[in-house]
Amino acid sequence: MQLFLDTANLDEITEIAAWGVLDGITTNPSLVSKEKRDFKKLVKDICKIVSGPVSAEVVSEDVEGMLREGRDIATWAENVVVKCPLTPNGLAATSKLSKDGIKVNVTLCFSVNQALLAARAGAYFISPFVGRLDDINEDGCALVEQIAEMYHIQSIETRVLAASVRTPPHVHRVALAGADCATMPYKVFKQLVHHPLTDQGMEKFLADWKQAQAAVAP
Ligand code: G3P
Repeated sequence: MQLFLDTANLDEITEIAAWGVLDGITTNPSLVSKEKRDFKKLVKDICKIVSGPVSAEVVSEDVEGMLREGRDIATWAENVVVKCPLTPNGLAATSKLSKDGIKVNVTLCFSVNQALLAARAGAYFISPFVGRLDDINEDGCALVEQIAEMYHIQSIETRVLAASVRTPPHVHRVALAGADCATMPYKVFKQLVHHPLTDQGMEKFLADWKQAQAAVAP
């Protein structure tokens, strides 16, 4: 499963990219708004740091507007992916953009049938929202598993990008559920690497090493 960062913050992206395990970036209008920068310049800067897919979302609600925005966004960088919402107009725009060879990430997916529609429209990624389903007392990770299974049975190539991932257990559950990618906030990415036994182990190894070196010093 590929690991994506769900942020538009360049400091966060630069820090995690240095680990060598960052496969892509997802943004949305809320995350971009927090950065208070020109959208196009921000996305271009992100695409310079990360060579994998970088999702940038349209904000129009009508098909013509989505197409205009999507076609423009697609010219910003080689690795940019246009994000469209899972609405009737979003599907229509996805269908047209994907026929033009533009990669589309269909977002705000909350059911298997919506994922099927997105795939039929030619989506490159489908983004089921795990945390927001958990928020309404449903099981977001189970939806990811069902979509992955349905895509497998139907030989659909659209990639399952688990989104709205809020905790480390979400990450390992969607990995076991068969997601192709998971996108998570900076905080969750940092949580993945830390374990108290790793920290304690490092402390003990280094203390033993220093003690032994002191004993053999001439
Ligand atoms: O990209 C979609 C994702 O950012 C939504 O996450 O935590 O706002 O539900 P959240």
